[in-house]
This record gives sequence, structure tokens and C-alpha cells, in this order.
Amino acid sequence: MSQSTIAVVGSGTMGGGIAHQMALSGFNVKLADVNESALEEAVKRMTSWMALNVRKGAMTQLEADDTLGRVKITTNLKDLSDCSFALEAVFENLEVKEGIFSQLDKILPPDAIIATNTSSMSITALAEYTGRQKKVVGMHFFNPPQIMKLVEVVRGFKTDDDTIKQTMELSRALGKEPIEIKRDTPGFIVNRLLIPQLLEAVRLVEEGVATPEDVDKAIRLGLNSPMGPFELQDYTGVDIGLNVVDHFYEEFRNDRWAAPLSLRALVRAGRLGRKTGAGWYDYPPKDK
Ligand SMILES: NC(=O)c1ccc[n+]([C@@H]2O[C@H](COP(=O)([O-])OP(=O)(O)OC[C@H]3O[C@@H](n4cnc5c(N)ncnc54)[C@H](O)[C@@H]3O)[C@@H](O)[C@H]2O)c1
Repeated sequence: MSQSTIAVVGSGTMGGGIAHQMALSGFNVKLADVNESALEEAVKRMTSWMALNVRKGAMTQLEADDTLGRVKITTNLKDLSDCSFALEAVFENLEVKEGIFSQLDKILPPDAIIATNTSSMSITALAEYTGRQKKVVGMHFFNPPQIMKLVEVVRGFKTDDDTIKQTMELSRALGKEPIEIKRDTPGFIVNRLLIPQLLEAVRLVEEGVATPEDVDKAIRLGLNSPMGPFELQDYTGVDIGLNVVDHFYEEFRNDRWAAPLSLRALVRAGRLGRKTGAGWYDYPPKDK
């Protein structure tokens, strides 16, 4: 597949990072977004990431230039018509993803694979917006995609074996360790295990057992984890965490996934972590 061009749709945190990892691994990439400035920002992030690595001696300037030369940007999905593999990484919003899936289905060659980086949506449901359900697969990267080794390759109800095999092979060619998720289940493996930890962490704070700082310290020092649950939430976005919790609640219809009140209150107060610079470590808000 290294000779063919891969499409990435959505050039935000994940799409931009994944496209960069593809180019670093020798693939030609077409990166598409509705927003011209999001594309420019993604290229800027790639450039500054590689400038740092050139300064550290981890790559040469020639390698950095060649990598950037493999990335083409576009705001027109029709430019992706020659791609045999497309990864969708747009907003986690069904209406937006639905539009992308049906457009890609019309534009891409009939045997091309359409993968999605969704964290929570059903691969089977997204595949329904195409006429090629067996070629639709989940390809769930972790942030930052250039560094994190895991890719969850998710089988939708109708995904065929060849699509799984090609997606696993592509993941390995990108220097990743893929795991096949054999059933299309909310949260796959990592979020299914991570969210209960977050929920218990919030309950510990609500019960007055410890502060967010000390819960994080306990997890860092006691479990040798690089980050505690609150730091992780502040890094990825408190609102994104709440969306996943609410989604699990809807899917499983079980109170064990009910969002604690303080989690919802933090989001309502606009204390979203990465987006505002204020999150769990300001809980309860000191200026209120
Ligand atoms: N951020 C994370 O830590 C993380 C980790 C794993 C998976 N994900 C998943 O990856 C996906 C993207 O998340 P993100 O954090 O990169 O989002 P983001 O908000 O950083 O970027 C989304 C991008 O999609 C673009 N976009 C929106 N509508 C579009 C359209 N119709 N056509 C083309 N581009 C469009 C936006 O302009 C934006 O640049 C989501 O499905 C999310 O669940 C996120």
C-alpha cells in the first residue's frame, strides 16, 4: 500500500497527527478539511514537530522536507478519488460523519476502504451510510498519534476479513501495534476500561475522600501510570469525557454509567480543560 495515496478527512488534533504519521512512514497523504485554516494549522504543527526533531538530531532537514512533500492538502473531497484507503477523523457528530461517509462512498474507487477514527460511534451504523458496508472499519488511534503505539481495529457487523487484514497491515506499516476488536461495542477496549476509572475518581472527589491532585498522584505513583484520570481529562477535554460517559449511559442503559453531577457541572461552567486552560484542578471553581 506504500505506493498508493491515503486520504485523511479532518485535519484537527487527530487527523492532522495521523496524516503526519503516515507521511513520516513513507506514505503519500491527501489531507482534507472543510476549513482551510485547519489545514494550514495542521501543516504548521507537522513543521514545528519536525523542526524540534531536527534540532534534537532525531531526523535530518532533508527527511523533514521529504515528509512534508508527501502531504497534499485540499478542501475538496473530490480530490480524493484516486485513494484506495480513506480515514475519517472529523468532529464526533453523527450528522457530520454521515455526510462524509456518503460523499466518500461516491468519490472513492469501489473497492477502497473507509476507516473511521471515531471514539464512540458504532462502525456498523456509520457503514450504513455507504453502499460498501464490508469495506468500512474502525481504526482508533490515540493522542498524540505520532507517539501512541496502539490502534484499535474495529470490526463492524458486516466488515469483511480482507478489510480487517489490510487495516491491521497498514497500522503495522505506520509503526503501530494494532489489536482487533472483534465486536462493535461502545468504547472498544481502552475507553471501556478508562471511563469507569474516571467515574470512580470523580465520585472519590465528590465524597471528599481526596482532591483531584491527590487522586492523580495516587494513580501516577501507585499504578505507575504516566497521568492520573483528572490530568488526562484536562488534556483531552472534560466535555469530550462527558460525551463518552453519556453515550455509554445511552447504549448500556445502566446506572453504572450515569455521569456524576460535578462532571456535568464542570462542563456547564465551561471548564473544559484543554480548551479553556481551566478544568478539574480548579474544582470547585475558586472564583465562584
Ligand atoms: N482528540 C482525541 O484525543 C481523540 C482520540 C481518539 C479519537 N478521537 C476521534 O477522532 C475524531 C476527530 O477528533 P479531533 O479531536 O481530531 O477533532 P478536532 O475538533 O480537533 O478536529 C475535527 C476536524 O474536522 C473538521 N471537519 C468538520 N466537519 C468536516 C467536514 N464536513 N469535512 C471535512 N472536515 C470537517 C474540522 O474542521 C476539524 O479540523 C473524532 O471522531 C474523535 O472522537 C479523538
